[in-house]
Amino acid sequence: MTNVFAYQNGSLAVEQVSLERIAAEVGTPCYVYSTERLRQNYADFIGGFQGMNAAVYYAIKANPNLAVTRALVDCGAGVDITSVGEMERALRAGVSPTKILYSGVGKRRDEIEAALNAGIRQINVESLPELHLIEQVTAELGKRAPVTLRINPNVAARTYKQNSTGELGTKFGIDLAQLDGVMEIVAKLSHIDFKGFQVHIGSHVFDFEPFREAFQKLADLTRFWRTKGFAIDRLDLGGGITIPYDSQTLAPFSDYVAIVRETVGDLGCELAFEPGRRLVGDAGILLSRVTFDKQGLSKRFLILDAGMNDLIRPAMYGARHTILPVKENHAADAPLADVVGPVCETSDLFGEDYRLPGVGQGDLVAILQAGAYGSAMSSNYNGRALIPEVMVSGGQFAIVRRRITVAEQLGWEAFPPWFEDKKPVEAHSCRAATG
Ligand code: LLP
Repeated sequence: MTNVFAYQNGSLAVEQVSLERIAAEVGTPCYVYSTERLRQNYADFIGGFQGMNAAVYYAIKANPNLAVTRALVDCGAGVDITSVGEMERALRAGVSPTKILYSGVGKRRDEIEAALNAGIRQINVESLPELHLIEQVTAELGKRAPVTLRINPNVAARTYKQNSTGELGTKFGIDLAQLDGVMEIVAKLSHIDFKGFQVHIGSHVFDFEPFREAFQKLADLTRFWRTKGFAIDRLDLGGGITIPYDSQTLAPFSDYVAIVRETVGDLGCELAFEPGRRLVGDAGILLSRVTFDKQGLSKRFLILDAGMNDLIRPAMYGARHTILPVKENHAADAPLADVVGPVCETSDLFGEDYRLPGVGQGDLVAILQAGAYGSAMSSNYNGRALIPEVMVSGGQFAIVRRRITVAEQLGWEAFPPWFEDKKPVEAHSCRAATG
C-alpha cells in the first residue's frame, strides 16, 4: 500500500499536499483525509473476499463526513447506519437505500418508519420489543421488513471495555439462551422477512480469534435453524477490525479472511461486513499547532491547539495515536514531552512521553490514525469551535466541512422569554483560527 502520509522535501504531506500549506490556508486544528487511502482501504477489504458472495457496508458512525462517505460509496460500499440521522447522511452521500443496513439497540418508532419508507436493505434487530415494534409499524405501513437478528454470542473481544459488545451483560444483541423464544415469534409475525443473523462483538479488535469464536457460533446457529425450516441466506459479520495505532503490529487481514472462510464460508450465505475504522481510521490525521512548550518542575508539556473535544479517544479509552512532527526531523535525542490540549481537564492528554524532535512552540504536529471516531465524536466543550475537515486528492485539497464557529454556535441558543428585558450583548466576532 502506498504511504500517503510521507515526508516530501522535509515536510509531512498527505498525498501531494504539504500539511504546512493546509495549516496556512485552513488554520489549525483541522482534520485532513486522504482520498487515495480511503480507496485503497476499500479495495483491500473487498479484495480479500474475491470469489465469495460478500459486500461491504461502511459503518458511517466512524466518520460521517459526506465527502468521506461519498468516496467510499463511489467505490461500491453500502452503508451501515445507527440512526435516521445517519441514514439522511448516507442518502445525501449518494448511497442507494437498498444498500443501507440499520443497526442499533434503541431504534425509535419514527426511525423505523423512516427506514421502512426509504426502503432500506435490512434492519438488524437487537431485542424482542424491537421486533414487535417493527412488526407493528410495518403492518401499519402495509409493508414487509427485511430483518436479521443480532446475536449476543457471549464472546470477549479483548478490546477496551467500552468497545466490547458481544459479551453477556452488555446491552447488545439477543442472548443465545433467549433465541429459541425469539425465533418462535419470528415464525409467527406476518410482516417480518427473516433473512439471517448478525453479530458484532466490538470495535478495535486486534486479536482475530474472538471473531472465529463468534462466527463459528453463527454458523452453528445457521445450520440448526435451517433444520427447523428457516431459510437463512444472509449473515452479517459486523465490523470491529482495528488498525495499527502507535507502533502496534497486527496480524494480516488475510488471517481474518481465512477465519471467515473457515467458519461461514460454506453456508452459501451472502456475507455482509460493517467495517468503520478499517476503512477510514488510517486515512485521516488531526493537524495541530503547539501553542506552548511548557517546562514544568517534573514534566515538559507540549500544549496543542487541538484538545480532547476534537479527538476524545486518548481521554476516553487511553488510546495512543502516533504523533509526528510536520517538519521532518529524525533526531533520536529529543526531550520527552506529554502532549496535551487546552481543555480544563487533566484527561485532556493525547499521551505521555512522546519524543517529537524539533517540535516546540509554534510548530505543527500530525496526530495519526484519526480518521475514525475523531471528528465523529468531537464536541464544542470548553467553548470551542468544531474544527474544519479537509480532503486531499493527489495535489489538490478542499474544505469538506468548514469550521463551525463559536459565534455561529451562539445562534443555536436562546434566552427564555421571561429574560426578555435582559437583552444579550452583541456577540464579538472571534479570531478565525479559534472562533
Ligand atoms: N457495526 C456495528 C453494529 C457497530 O456498533 C460498530 C461500531 C461497527 C459496525 C463498526 O466498528 P469498527 O469496524 O469501526 O470497529 N468510539 C470507539 C469505537 C466505537 C465503535 C462503535 N460501534 C473508538 O473510538 O474506538
